[in-house]
Amino acid sequence: TRTHRIAVIPGDGIGIETVAATLRVLEKLSALENFSLDLTHFDYGSARYKSTGSYTPETFPDELRPYDSILFGAVGDPDVPDHISLWKLLLPMRQIFQQYVNCRPVCLLPGVKACVNTAATPSDLDWVIVRENSEGEYSGQGGRSHIGTVGETATEVGIFTRFGCERLIRWAFELASGRPRKLLTLVTKSNAQRSGLVLWDECANRVAKDYPDVKWDKMLVDAMTVRMVRNPASLDVIVCTNLHGDILSDLAAALAGSIGIAPSANLVPDHSAPALFEPVHGSAFDIMGKGIANPIGTIWSAAMMLDYLGEKAAAARLERAFKKALADGATTADLGGELDTEGAAQAVIDRL
Ligand code: NAD
Ligand code: IPM
Ligand code: MN
Repeated sequence: TRTHRIAVIPGDGIGIETVAATLRVLEKLSALENFSLDLTHFDYGSARYKSTGSYTPETFPDELRPYDSILFGAVGDPDVPDHISLWKLLLPMRQIFQQYVNCRPVCLLPGVKACVNTAATPSDLDWVIVRENSEGEYSGQGGRSHIGTVGETATEVGIFTRFGCERLIRWAFELASGRPRKLLTLVTKSNAQRSGLVLWDECANRVAKDYPDVKWDKMLVDAMTVRMVRNPASLDVIVCTNLHGDILSDLAAALAGSIGIAPSANLVPDHSAPALFEPVHGSAFDIMGKGIANPIGTIWSAAMMLDYLGEKAAAARLERAFKKALADGATTADLGGELDTEGAAQAVIDRL
């Protein structure tokens, strides 16, 4: 039996609920397939912050580094400032561990209804959003001065390096060249953002020469939102900056049914540090504690984790099971189903 060391960080809000449900699914799956997960739970999050004044220990990167992967829920709490919940764990981790690829598959799955009235069928909406995850608009650099005066200013600095965008764009072209349709769309706002995002265009021009089999085009992010809604079948791999990728992935999740099922993998392509797997959604203040969150975003992310860990058969088995559950309508209210979080996870377990 192969054993993988996993750091489990449920975090806040519905992350706690969907991770608990996902662990039940993984327990059953590991009994059926020949692997085991050695889980270590970390209490990083808002409850820890409220009781001790610290969201994470200063040493959290050292504590997490030995693990093969991190399974993550969500962060964010109504009573904790966002700069704490976001900047004491998740965002620094993406940078410190150089999880520079945020890979977010988006598929309109059979049996799932899109949120908008669209003629799209499952084969029309089958994308992978490849989001830059280590720099850009999330550099964390900038600041405020003259606070409280009429002369107050704030800067939020976007940092785009040739190294950072070239490695990301190359990863995306490599992915596109291995997919059946071999299409790639580069998203920027290089008409207005004339430094950083022109650099993106130039990087893409260079990298594309190494992938003559990939048919690619460029889109400005505003026009891209329209194309995603009106012509989903024209898209395949979508490569974008950190902030654009954040926004487009929520739109994509809605087009594919619900933010509750959207998965993501924060990858370290050279495996020099743990990768992190988490749903696209957040802690969902409006439904936290009610036990009704859709667990599929976290379960799907766990399937991506198993695939990354080399457990291909287990990953495929889990994917088949949750797709069957969704096709059967055995799901939560966000997709028109009647199950609660535990019931939706049980529906997956029953189909393993
Ligand atoms: P959100 O994703 O938490 O919620 C947006 C809407 O989607 C809400 O109506 C929510 O009920 C619904 N929703 C989300 N996940 C669902 C699920 N699994 N099942 C059913 N419905 C679901 O976004 P928000 O409200 O903008 O953010 C809330 C908090 O979460 C904020 O503090 C934010 O910073 C944080 N956040 C964290 C992450 C993360 O940890 N990766 C991601 C997004 C937002
Ligand atoms: C996401 C989230 C995060 C992001 C937040 C919590 C910092 O919205 O993973 O999509 O913006 O990257
Ligand atoms: Mn987001």
